[in-house]
Amino acid sequence: MKILNRFIKYLWPVAAGCLLSFGASADAHISSANNPTWKAECSSCHVAYPPSLLPADSWRALMSGLDKHFGVDASVDAKSAAEIGAFLQKNAGRNRGASTKPILRITETPWFKREHDEVGAAVWKNPKVKSASNCAACHSGAEQGNFSEHGVRIPR
Ligand code: HEC
Ligand code: HEC
Repeated sequence: MKILNRFIKYLWPVAAGCLLSFGASADAHISSANNPTWKAECSSCHVAYPPSLLPADSWRALMSGLDKHFGVDASVDAKSAAEIGAFLQKNAGRNRGASTKPILRITETPWFKREHDEVGAAVWKNPKVKSASNCAACHSGAEQGNFSEHGVRIPR
């Protein structure tokens, strides 16, 4: 995973250009697509990240490595994996940077960085935030898939 992170960082200037189009679609309009198996399996450790926040190839790559999921084992049975994978890909966001390696983290995507560039370093380091992946620390509606700017509450 470290190697992948480094790769993503290194590739950043290239990926940013390729993925700008995806960014435009992801901002304001987050689909409310739902699936009970996804909700049950993918919301026990963090909020169920809405499928529209990553392109289909990212979800495909992520679902094929659940046993080594950001340092934890998040495996599910084969039937659930197939159902969740199909749901995520069907409702995925757009990606025109087809030739680049899929980005596995929402927080590594160009649109995420753009939307959050006003958030200062001290806020990210706040123990109440812990990690940029911890959307619910600042987005009061994250559990319900609502990331609108009106629901943002920065912890003090
Ligand atoms: C056993 C706990 C666990 C389960 C179950 C789990 N995850 Fe995760 N997930 C993690 C951890 C830990 C991270 C890394 C969080 C961090 O860096 O702070 C993560 C990160 C992610 C990220 C990247 C977030 C970012 O930084 O942008 C995505 C996307 C993701 N998970 C999707 C899923 C999906 C889809 C499922 C269901 C198939 C799932 N997760 C189930 C533990 C889990
Ligand atoms: C440290 C606090 C913090 C965390 C953690 C955080 N965000 Fe944000 N987010 C913000 C702020 C601040 C804004 C900008 C709100 C504004 O434009 O007024 C924002 C904006 C957004 C927007 C655009 C909203 C809009 O209406 O334009 C989206 C989408 C979003 N965040 C998704 C996420 C996701 C998904 C995660 C977790 C993977 C996350 N955020 C984690 C603070 C945070």
